[in-house]
Amino acid sequence: MKDQINKIISDVEKFAITSKEELEAYKLKFLVKKGLVNQLFVDFKNLTNEEKKVIGKDLNILKLKVEQVYLDAQLFLEELKSIDYKSDPLPGYYTEVGSRHPITSIIDEMTLIFERLGFSVSTGPEIEDDWHNFSALNFPDNHPARDMQDTFFVEDDIALRTHTSSVQVRLMEEGTLPIRSIMPGRVYRNEAISARSNCFFHQVEGLYIDKGVSFSDLKQTLYNFVQEFFGQNTRVRFRASYFPFTEPSAEMDIYLGLETESDYRLTKGTGWLEILGCGMVDPNVLENCKIDTSIYSGFAFGLGVDRMAMLKFGVKDLRTFFNSDKRFLEQFSCL
Ligand code: PHE
Repeated sequence: MKDQINKIISDVEKFAITSKEELEAYKLKFLVKKGLVNQLFVDFKNLTNEEKKVIGKDLNILKLKVEQVYLDAQLFLEELKSIDYKSDPLPGYYTEVGSRHPITSIIDEMTLIFERLGFSVSTGPEIEDDWHNFSALNFPDNHPARDMQDTFFVEDDIALRTHTSSVQVRLMEEGTLPIRSIMPGRVYRNEAISARSNCFFHQVEGLYIDKGVSFSDLKQTLYNFVQEFFGQNTRVRFRASYFPFTEPSAEMDIYLGLETESDYRLTKGTGWLEILGCGMVDPNVLENCKIDTSIYSGFAFGLGVDRMAMLKFGVKDLRTFFNSDKRFLEQFSCL
């Protein structure tokens, strides 16, 4: 009889009840007077007292289990009836699957392009000391970026990094040459929050140091990137600029045209939009990191990821990327 009990338990467990008809079939099979469970109780009467002692407990447990499954299924079908299928998902089948944040997918896309050009990926701490964020990068003591107004200081000489150039310093200090690496990451600046600027944002910076690296290598790398990222026919221009850690320095613009610019804010009526800063690494910086400038030279560049994401996705307000509104983020769930 023990075997029969086990067989019924396994049948009960396998029995799928998803409709009124199946519930009825279950009842007929196991629960009615002529059902399988009751039949066992009939047979039970013919057992010896010794056998009854052993089997009795199992039989009662079986009866309870069969009844419980019936009651649960009944309740489940009752609940199913009250569900509004248009707005409620099926109970038990609903899982929310997250997706990559749009800023992360832009960083991934940029990383893939630079990886194809032979760049590796490096990361570093977001809380940095003065040396890695400023001094090693040739920032004069009185440079405005060192001011409380621009930088979030944690302690006297410790701040939230204002750019990922700090990772470049760490890499150069390691001393393994040549270096061809990009540094994606979050950076912080003490700026008023608006549709176009935030107190934190994301950069992908790049550093290439080797023998005989020239400005034309820098231009070719960036041309290549822009064509891959924005399309083959994207027009670019370089403008002379200034950064303490590069000499000569430049900024690169891409041409967006004026047709799409209804309010003249994006390109300020010129059609051109600045997307990155770049230049040849200043020999002072190389020397700060103990790199022999008679042998090595290099270039560096820094791209703003958030602006790229705004352009690529046509997002007008930077803040929407970071206020965790699911309705906004779900639009990017296919990325
Ligand atoms: N670090 C610069 C910034 O944050 C960008 C940059 C990187 C410029 C490398 C030139 C070379 O604005």
